[in-house]
Amino acid sequence: MTSPNAKPPSGAPSRVTLSLGHLPSKKDIRAPWPRTPTRVDPNNPPWPAYRGYHEYSFAHATMQSRLPTILGKAIEDTTRTLNEESSEERIVDLVACIDRMGELMTDLSGNAKLRPIIDDNEADVALWNKEIAKYFQGKDFMNAPWLFAEAYKYRRLHEAFSVSRYWHDYDCDTFSRSSDAVFELSMRFAEPFKISEDLSPEDRLEAERLMFLELTQVCLWGNSTDLSLLINMTEEQIKSLQSTGGDHLAATEKNILGNHLNRLWDTVKELREKTGGRIDFILDNAGFELYCDCVYADFLLQSGLATQIRFHGKRYPWFVSDVTKKDWEWLLNTMVYGQLFSKASDIELESLRRLGQRWKQYEKEGKWVYEQHPFWCTGYTFWELHSEAPDLFLHLSRSDLVYFKGDLNHRKLTYDCAAPASTPFEMAIGPMASSAGAPKIASLRTIKSDVVVGLGDDGDLVAENLDKTEPGWKISGKYAVVLFSEGRPGEKVRFA
Ligand code: F6P
Ligand code: MG
Repeated sequence: MTSPNAKPPSGAPSRVTLSLGHLPSKKDIRAPWPRTPTRVDPNNPPWPAYRGYHEYSFAHATMQSRLPTILGKAIEDTTRTLNEESSEERIVDLVACIDRMGELMTDLSGNAKLRPIIDDNEADVALWNKEIAKYFQGKDFMNAPWLFAEAYKYRRLHEAFSVSRYWHDYDCDTFSRSSDAVFELSMRFAEPFKISEDLSPEDRLEAERLMFLELTQVCLWGNSTDLSLLINMTEEQIKSLQSTGGDHLAATEKNILGNHLNRLWDTVKELREKTGGRIDFILDNAGFELYCDCVYADFLLQSGLATQIRFHGKRYPWFVSDVTKKDWEWLLNTMVYGQLFSKASDIELESLRRLGQRWKQYEKEGKWVYEQHPFWCTGYTFWELHSEAPDLFLHLSRSDLVYFKGDLNHRKLTYDCAAPASTPFEMAIGPMASSAGAPKIASLRTIKSDVVVGLGDDGDLVAENLDKTEPGWKISGKYAVVLFSEGRPGEKVRFA
């Protein structure tokens, strides 16, 4: 929705410098935490919630500075569009959108109470208003849990447009700024994936394992460059974050603090030995990250590790750069028909075109399916997926493996609360691991916010040391986790 090059609105800081000293104290997160499951609800997560009023926390910096900056950029962008418009009816309609964005800015900066969402015919209105009525009556932007308040802001931003007659949202584009990495991958993978026939079965499997590990990392690190944090980055900085290739990836594996890559390989290998299965991706960001996801998904299909991939995106713009249907179609079409990369050679452009054509063919054959359930754009965490979106839970339970991409999905899996870093992933994701029929889950996430779990038995120590030596390690995107949950696949799904 926002243009990355737009200037911040006057009064909003262009850069946020943080010291993360004031999160819920380490002493407070031992007993009596975690809460027993029956006492957990959206206002009372299993461990203490992060809330905007925790000064010096990332929650505070986001609610106080980042969100107003992002909203200010969206207003500037929309105003530019207004200035280019000529039809009176459309102008009047867009002015009303800008006024509603202005009201949201007033509410956000004045820390207003959270009001219900207006009925704009979206499928999620009832879910939003039920949650507000049950758990957030009288709560404001700063004292509601950060996760909910932040999601609510994006829903209100959508409402500013969804009640209008003519206007929908704007595209934002991280793809064209990633050209080096785009062609590095397209040149390597334009031709269908093939392992030399001359290798022994063991060597073939080993080659495949290495490729799987490399591409899982490509898919993981594609998440480090989401637009909401990229606003101030130069092309050089983006390039170094996105570089791919064996040596680089061996070095970056050291930054995967909770690392279940080998368990993941064993799982997909087993899938192929049985029937070859359905793999789902709960997508995160458009542009370069989506491209990396697709390169990975292509490999999973070609190597027979999966027979079908289902991609889950958002119904409307969400957290600045998350994938919508429009972004999905744009990516595939621009690869085949686009003229985005003026400096690229013919060979490079041809490699991108071939890749795009193959992916479009997968769609036609039903090997790739794009979906958009309304639940993904709500303020609920995934602890509530089973109860609030039973149809979606049932649908996912039929998948052989579900990848959750990115920071926000990870926050939602783990209830975005101050759990100790040594908390096992399966415990942190509660019902998504423990409910009958829960699918196998992998979370591929570069760490860009406070919650960190799954670092193993000495995880608390690792986190404490990093707190001392690298303040800001939880928001830089330099570190990551690849965490895996066995779930309870195959068991009959039950609802209360
Ligand atoms: O603003 C909060 C946040 O969730 C950050 O943690 C992160 O920078 C961004 O929004 C979204 O990240 P991702 O696109 O990886 O979910
Ligand atoms: Mg995102």
